[in-house]
Amino acid sequence: MSKVIAVTSGKGGTGKSSICSGLGYSLAKMGNRTLIIELDFGLRCIDIIFGISNEINHDLGSVLEGKCDPIDAVTQVRTASNLNILCAPKNPFTVVTAEQIADICQQVKKYFDYIIIDTGAGINSHVFDIVEQSNLILVITTPDPICVRDAQMMSDEFYKRGNQRQRLIVNKVSKKTIINKIIKDLDEIIDTIGVQLIGVIPEDNELIIATGKGFPLPYEAPSLIAFDAIARRIKGEDVPLTKFI
Ligand SMILES: Nc1ncnc2c1ncn2[C@@H]1O[C@H](COP(=O)(O)OP(=O)(O)OP(=O)(O)O)[C@@H](O)[C@H]1O
Ligand SMILES: [Mg+2]
Repeated sequence: MSKVIAVTSGKGGTGKSSICSGLGYSLAKMGNRTLIIELDFGLRCIDIIFGISNEINHDLGSVLEGKCDPIDAVTQVRTASNLNILCAPKNPFTVVTAEQIADICQQVKKYFDYIIIDTGAGINSHVFDIVEQSNLILVITTPDPICVRDAQMMSDEFYKRGNQRQRLIVNKVSKKTIINKIIKDLDEIIDTIGVQLIGVIPEDNELIIATGKGFPLPYEAPSLIAFDAIARRIKGEDVPLTKFI
């Protein structure tokens, strides 16, 4: 049975696309057939992260226009044989409904063990409809108080809608940011948002370099260790939290 994971955040720039890519890579490395669906219309970036911008023949736009079936718009990532992406349309004005996304997921489910959806930023009903159809919602925040408040608003809304399938990822955590007085510490972040933690990802320069160049993360990159741990927790393993800070 394929599992649909929605990756979302209230504030933009929290690391959703980086996390979809890193987590997708980790799940694929473990032998899971994985698909990342990018819903960040007009702001496509996952093809760049995997260094395959020149290999994208079709995207979600082609599917929505009825030019091809969803599975034919999927591109395999060269660096990980089990990893595939369905890129966002280049046109920022493409309109998609939650029903269309559900239908696309339904059509491709038989080919994949995990479908990861990069929802794009923002709190709107469109995102809520999409995430409600998923088996797991990953709410992403950074330690920044504005991000934390936006994540709290978002998860409160999920709870109001009866959705208990949320887990929290705190991204871009560094000693510097936690020591700094304006940044909340990890326990305070978790208590404020009120969602069970599934992972902490350190601020990692290797991630910025690798995603910018379209290279895989180096084996020893701290963020890759964090992605591997989150992937294993998603698969039900009991993996202790790594202390990066
Ligand atoms: N753990 C990390 N360490 C260092 N930099 C990071 C980390 N995670 C993400 N970044 C950087 O933060 C920036 C934003 O990341 P990303 O594009 O993944 O966020 P996003 O939530 O998808 O943004 P948007 O809301 O615009 O879609 C990028 O420059 C990325 O390289
Ligand atoms: Mg993004």
